Formats: sequence, C-alpha cells, structure tokens
Amino acid sequence: MEHSKLYKLTEQASKKLYESVNDIESLNQWKIQMINLIDEIAQLKLSTSIEINKINNTSLDPTDWLSSRHIAHQMLDSSIEFIQTVRSHPVWQPIPIEVRKSIEQESLPEQGQALSKVCHDALTYIFPYIRGNIHPRFWGWVMGEGTLGGILAEMMVATMNINAGGCTHSAVLVERTVIQWMRQLFDFPKDNNGGIVVNGTSMASIICMATARRQFLINIRQDGIVNGPQLIVYASKEVHICIGKALEVLGFGLKAMHSISVDDNFSIKIDELKKTIENDRKNGLIPFCIIGNAGTVNTGAFDNLIELSTIARKENMWFHVDGAFGGLVILDPERRHLVQGIEQADSLAFDFHKWFHCPYAAGCVLIRNGTHLLSTFSVHQSYLADNERGCAGDKPWFCDLGLELSRPFRALKVWFTLKEHGIIKLGQKISDNCQQAQYLASLLEKYKDFIRILRPITLNIVNFRLEPKELDILNNELIDIFNNELLADIQLSGIAVASTTRIYNQLYIRVCIVSHRCILEDFDIFVDNLLKFSHIRLQNLKQSINSVDQE
Ligand SMILES: Cc1ncc(COP(=O)(O)O)c(C=O)c1O
Repeated sequence: MEHSKLYKLTEQASKKLYESVNDIESLNQWKIQMINLIDEIAQLKLSTSIEINKINNTSLDPTDWLSSRHIAHQMLDSSIEFIQTVRSHPVWQPIPIEVRKSIEQESLPEQGQALSKVCHDALTYIFPYIRGNIHPRFWGWVMGEGTLGGILAEMMVATMNINAGGCTHSAVLVERTVIQWMRQLFDFPKDNNGGIVVNGTSMASIICMATARRQFLINIRQDGIVNGPQLIVYASKEVHICIGKALEVLGFGLKAMHSISVDDNFSIKIDELKKTIENDRKNGLIPFCIIGNAGTVNTGAFDNLIELSTIARKENMWFHVDGAFGGLVILDPERRHLVQGIEQADSLAFDFHKWFHCPYAAGCVLIRNGTHLLSTFSVHQSYLADNERGCAGDKPWFCDLGLELSRPFRALKVWFTLKEHGIIKLGQKISDNCQQAQYLASLLEKYKDFIRILRPITLNIVNFRLEPKELDILNNELIDIFNNELLADIQLSGIAVASTTRIYNQLYIRVCIVSHRCILEDFDIFVDNLLKFSHIRLQNLKQSINSVDQE
C-alpha cells in the first residue's frame, strides 16, 4: 500500500519536472508544490525502508524497492525504444575490442554491484552488439523477429519463475491449451498428451525420433539399442542437419540415415525412395521412419507429404515431418496446399520462434498418438509422485512427455502471440514474406547478365550468385570467394544481413525472409547496395591487377 502511494507520488513529481513555468510567480508556485511532494516522498520512503529492513534484509530482493522499480521501468522503456527504433540501427555491427574485453575479461564478481550499474553495463556492452534478427533487413539463416507482446510475456515468465515440469498451476493449463490449438491447426486428432513445447525443432526432432524408436523397439528403455536391429531412416538430401544429430544422440549413428536424391524442385524423389526401401528390406535392414520436409532450410522446398504418408502406412513405418518454419504455411490460404498430408504425420516438429515470431526459444512436438509420448518418457519416482489434492496434481506432467524435468514456461509467449495477433494476421505476414521473395527476385532479374537466381522460389528464400564478366565465370572457386566477400561487405556496412549456402556445389547468397517488419523498399535498398559493393570490389580488383602488371 505504502509502495503504491510512493510510486504515485514519484510519478507526480516526475511529471511536474516537465511542467512549463512562464514567470517568477509560477516558478515559485512550482517550487512549493515540488518541495511538498518531495517531503511527502521522503516521509513515505523512510517508513517503507524501515518496514522493509525489518522484514527482510538478507534476501536477494532490493533494499530500495522504489528506486529498483524506477530502474526496471527504465529498462523496459529502453527495450521498447530499442525495437521501436530498430530500423535506424545497423542490422549488425562488429564488436569493438574494448567491448569484447569488457565482457570476456571481467573477473568473477565477488561482491554485488548496484542494479543500476548492472543495467548500464547490459545496455552499453550487450544491447548494441546483437545478431540483428529483430531488424527488418536481417535475412540470414531462418530467424524470427519477436514482438512487444513477447517481451511482456518473457518478463512475466521471469516474474512467476514457474518450473513447468509438472504440478497444478496455470502454466500447465496454458501449455495444454497451446498444444490443443496446434493440434487443431494441423488437423491432428484431439489428444491431451499429444505434444509438448520445447526449445526448438532440433530438440523436438530428438523427442520425435525417440518416440518413434520406442514404438519399434518396445524394450528400448530397458535394453538400450546395443545389438538391436538396424533401423533405417529415409530423408531427402536436403533434410536439416538436426535429424542427423538426433540419430547420432539416439545411438542410431549417421549410417542409419539413407539419403534420397531430390528433383529439380528440391523435393524428395519418390521412386528412388521406394526402391531404396525395397532393397534395404531385401538386405535385412529394417526401414523404420520416413522424414518429410515441409520447407527445407536451403530453398524452402516441400516434399510430397501425401505420397510419403502413403508409403509410410503401407510399409508400416513412422512418418515424421520437419516443418520448422515451412509447416506454418498452413496459416497462409494461398500456400496451404504445400503441406497437404501433414495431418497424416505420426510426429511433427516445428518452431514458434521462426514464423510465429515468439522470442527465442520455443518449438513444438506434436505426436499423433499421445500415449506414445508417455510410454517413451514417463518415469515413476517417489519424489515425483502426484496427489489428487493440493499442488501436485494435473498428471500427466510435462516432464513425463519429454526430456526436461525442470523446464521454463515457454508456452506463455506462444499463448501471448496467438492471442495478441491471431492466426489470420500471422498467416498474412507469412504470405507477405513469400511475396517479398518474388519481389526481390524481380529486382535481381534485371541484372540477369551477371546475377544468377536459383529457381524455383517456392517460399520465402531467394538464392542467387553474382557472376560478373570481369571474373572468370568458369572458375567456381573464384566466384564463390567473390560472393562470400561481397556478402561480408554488406554485413559490415550494417545495411543488411543475408547468409550463404552451397547448392550444386556452388556458393549462393541466401536471403531468407522471416521478418514481419520488412517492407518492399528494404529490398530496393539491399539490391542498390549489393550493386554498389560489387562495383567497388571489382574496381579494387582491377586496380590491384593493374598495379601488379606495372611492377
Ligand atoms: C528446416 C529446418 N529444420 C530444423 C531446424 C532446426 O531448428 P532449431 O534451430 O529451432 O533447432 C531448422 C533451423 O533453421 C530448419 O530450417
């Protein structure tokens, strides 16, 4: 009570500070009112400090709540200011040596510092040197931007500091609701235990593969995989590395992955898949799982999920879909057809931190049949017993549906984002990004005598490479270096960030658009600068060749 009074008074005082005074008389009035306010504040401050010091002088809570509150408000303001003005910042900037030193060479703090000093250090040394994916011209890798609602959700999560591993509390209900919403979105059958929010698609893939494995090797939890049958997983050559990692950590090894070629659309070749499965069976191997790609990382390609699910059913195999970002085209009426068949998946992994724009990190596991998650992960220990009455209810707990026992309340930012923006708007942003990719391609197309665009552009990714006639275009290595250096020039300029990838053994500049903030003009700026930096680079090259010739 005293605190909120105190807070109101300080608010009044800070408003008063900015009041305009036009003459000496009003200035004197202002002074008196200000002094009265300060007196009142001082009295309250004294009583609250005494009260607080009596109750609690040993905890990690602030001793001066009022000034801490002010600092917290300032930090929130700085955060909001940061995203509101993000367009005027460099997308990315190198970390100066002094900043690097101040972070890396700081010794282990023995004594605490004032909260304001810690906040100052965070704002000075950390805030400005971020990866940049909140900026509208960040198109590197596949990264979401976050939202203001996401910031608030994360603040609340830290305040509640819930361990969402289990028990009866609001976080469990929110996570179940989010999972139900996702099952509804992807047309999965209703199932209370059929999913979990994890930290991303890589972790989701491990959980999905472990669940699949448990259905094939019923005693795996007891016996382990040693001397078990050789289970084989099939995926296109364009599959994300996280599937390989999952197979490694689950003890299958990479040799369990049989890679299938892709066609001109970068989609898995169905005939080759069927033939490989057939041959493997003949050779005593056990075809166990087919991975379908809903949006490959390199080009945003889609496998034919309907065909893959049919083969998986016929062959008695598990059907897993990696829909890390592309799965969410289900929200875009124009592109929804690309994920037809996803509803047939036995497991689906996708991210909330990519095209859903939830703050890092949040991804999702959906398992068609929820009992499979429980049979793979649930444990019975006396110290984790549930109880119908009291706090330890609401079984099954999320710790029984995945790997983490202690787990953050990740679902809140998803719940927040969905409630604040709704799936129609989120879908519209996905559609915008796909149209922006076509717009960028149309800009690059004007320079087709020296810019080669990789087609098709199915989704939000444009891969291209510059092949200037000044360079020997048959010299792949030289062209690769030129493009790589050109991209670094642009990144260092702070104007845009894209990344690179290798396709058909050539390096491509890869623009992957996942920004809800970017507009068409951003691509004009990008292309103008691409041409400018390319020109400078070629001029410098010519000059250095000339000077070598003259020597
Ligand atoms: C297609 C695809 N699958 C899986 C992943 C891994 O997702 P995460 O980084 O959330 O672990 C990515 C990441 O970009 C991806 O693009």
